[in-house]
Formats: sequence, structure tokens, C-alpha cells
Amino acid sequence: MSRLIRARAPSNIALVKYMGKADALSNLPANPSVSLTLSGLATEVELRPAPGATGFHWVSEAPVSARAGAWRVPTLSDRGVARFLRHAERAAAAAPELLADCGLEFAPIEGAELRSANSFPAGAGIASSASSFAALTLTVIAAHARDPQAFRRTLESPERGSSLRARLASLSRQGSGSSCRSFDGPWVRWENAEARPLRSRLEPLTDFVLLVRESEKAVGSSEAHSRVLSSPLWKGRSERAASRASELALALESADFQAVCALAWAEFQDMHALFHSSAERFSYWEPESERLLEALQPWVESGHPRLGPVCVTMDAGANVHVLVPERLAPDWERALTKLAPGLPRLSDAQGLGARVIQEGEGE
Ligand code: PMV
Repeated sequence: MSRLIRARAPSNIALVKYMGKADALSNLPANPSVSLTLSGLATEVELRPAPGATGFHWVSEAPVSARAGAWRVPTLSDRGVARFLRHAERAAAAAPELLADCGLEFAPIEGAELRSANSFPAGAGIASSASSFAALTLTVIAAHARDPQAFRRTLESPERGSSLRARLASLSRQGSGSSCRSFDGPWVRWENAEARPLRSRLEPLTDFVLLVRESEKAVGSSEAHSRVLSSPLWKGRSERAASRASELALALESADFQAVCALAWAEFQDMHALFHSSAERFSYWEPESERLLEALQPWVESGHPRLGPVCVTMDAGANVHVLVPERLAPDWERALTKLAPGLPRLSDAQGLGARVIQEGEGE
């Protein structure tokens, strides 16, 4: 039986950041983090059985379903391909036990081709590791289910799906830490080995990404995770992040967007202060990032005079994320165009996490 599988996983944006590892080998985080799952900024991975072959093979072309749209094949270095394939092998090795624990039957795969594409342009300053490792994990595990349709039904079932998603998240984390937050949504809390959805009464948000820098960053996130340990501000960091994670959970539960905005601002400043003060100090901030932060800060503190509170955050990069209530997105879009005319920008809605989009035979 053919087990052609395609899965799609979105990226996520953390408001309380994962920065610093308690265990570098299995990507256990030094502190809890909380993120919003996105929807359109995503990666699609396709697994196609290759009769006669053994192991996984990377094919540098888009999955069939992604070819029609504006999806792009990532340009992976040899190291990038090796890391991707290593994780595919890790997922394949974990599949028998993971599936059995979730009441699903396992079927082995001899050899397979893997194709992948991102919905966002390469070099757009959007980290693709969260979405691509989540999509890869889900694809490889789904492909090992004897009945991929039963797998999909379990994944989508509100009751039985949650433990399967938690297992997939934990496996995915070993390939890329932040990918474990892309299996659920819209809000996810990750602590130690567990990433779980967080209850929220907050209205839906839109994430605008102001693309300050589109080229590859000088310090990758793995390097950042290790350099921050040498900062004098590292002391107390995990307590600060943990207490913000708890306060954020309360703010989401009580739909207090103003409090969400204040916490997110304090938190990304805290993470970037670690970068700026580590022994080998470094910074992702470009002059344009700083100009935008300065212009946005009064709106974060007191709200935009007409549009109210706004949530601002930055990851390990120069781009500025501006999260606003979806119902006000067109008005905010105009305000952001005024603030940064000519600056490229992406926008995305919140979402519910990784999904299988096709299983079985055929194109
Ligand atoms: O998953 P990694 O190792 O690429 O780390 C991501 C770290 C940040 O994006 C800076 C913060 C986060 O929690 O996503």
C-alpha cells in the first residue's frame, strides 16, 4: 500500500521566550515559554515511499500540492539537509512506541523521499525551523501508521488527539526546540518536556511582521542559546521568565490584552539584554529595529490613541512583530504603513497547529 503523506505546520511567535537550554542534547528549555501559533506562515513536508531504496532522501523540489502556489523550496546547506534527515530517522525510530501508546498500528517504511516547501520567502527573516521540524515530525509519524486515515482522525479528535499531539511535540522538540509549540493552538505553553495548549479568552490576533532585515543572521539561535549563559543577567532569568509565563496565562484567561502587551514588551527586552551582555556580546538590532521600537513604545505603554493596546515582540533577529486584535487589523495596517512606509511586511492570523493535509495514494 502506498503511504504518501503530506503535513503542514505553522510557525509560532513566543511572547515568553525559550532562551537557554537546561539540556542541549534533547533541547530541554531553561524556562517555560508561551507562544501564539500562526497559520499561513507554514511549512509543508511530503513523504513519498521509494520502492527499493533504504532510509530517507532529501529531494530539492516542492511537494506536489505546494507547487501551484507561492511556496518555496528552502535552500538547505549540507548541514541543514543532514540535520533534517537525522530528525526523520529519529522520528522513524520513535514511531512504533509512539503509535502503540496512542492506540494506532505501526507499519514499517523501507525507503522514502522527503520534499519540503515554505509559504514564506527564503531570507524573509522568518525562522523556518519551528514549522519545518513540526511538519517533518508529523509527516514521518503519520507515514508509519498502518492506517493513515485512522491516524488523522485521532489527531483531529479533541479528546484522543491531545495526547498524540503532546507526544509529537515532545519528539519534534528534539529536532528543534521551538517546533514543539506548533502542534496546538492558538496559545501554547512549553515547560520541560511538555508543550500543551493554554486556555485563553483573548479575541483573535493578527501578527504583522515588519521585515527589517531579510538576510541570514550572524548568530544562529543555537549559538544564542549557549552564549546567553555567560551574561551576568542570566542569574534569575529562568525565574523572571517563569513568573511572566504564569502572569501571561492569567492575562490570557481574563482577556486582559493590555497586560499581555506589557508582559511581552518586558520579556523580549529581557532576552535581548542577555544577548547584549553575554561575554561574547552580540545584537540583532538594526538602526531600523530601534527606530521602530522607539516609535511603538508609547503605544505599548499607553495604547494607540484610536486603536488601543498593541503587543510588540522580537525573536533572535532584527524583525519586529506587532500583534493586534484581528478586528482592528485593517486600521493597524494603515498605522504601520505610516510608521514605516516602504518597509516590507508579512501578516498572519492565529491558528490551531500542525495538520495532515493528505494521506494515501495519488497526487
Ligand atoms: O527553537 P530554536 O532553537 O530556534 O530557538 C528559538 C528561540 C527564540 O525564537 C528566540 C524564542 C522562542 O521561544 O521561539
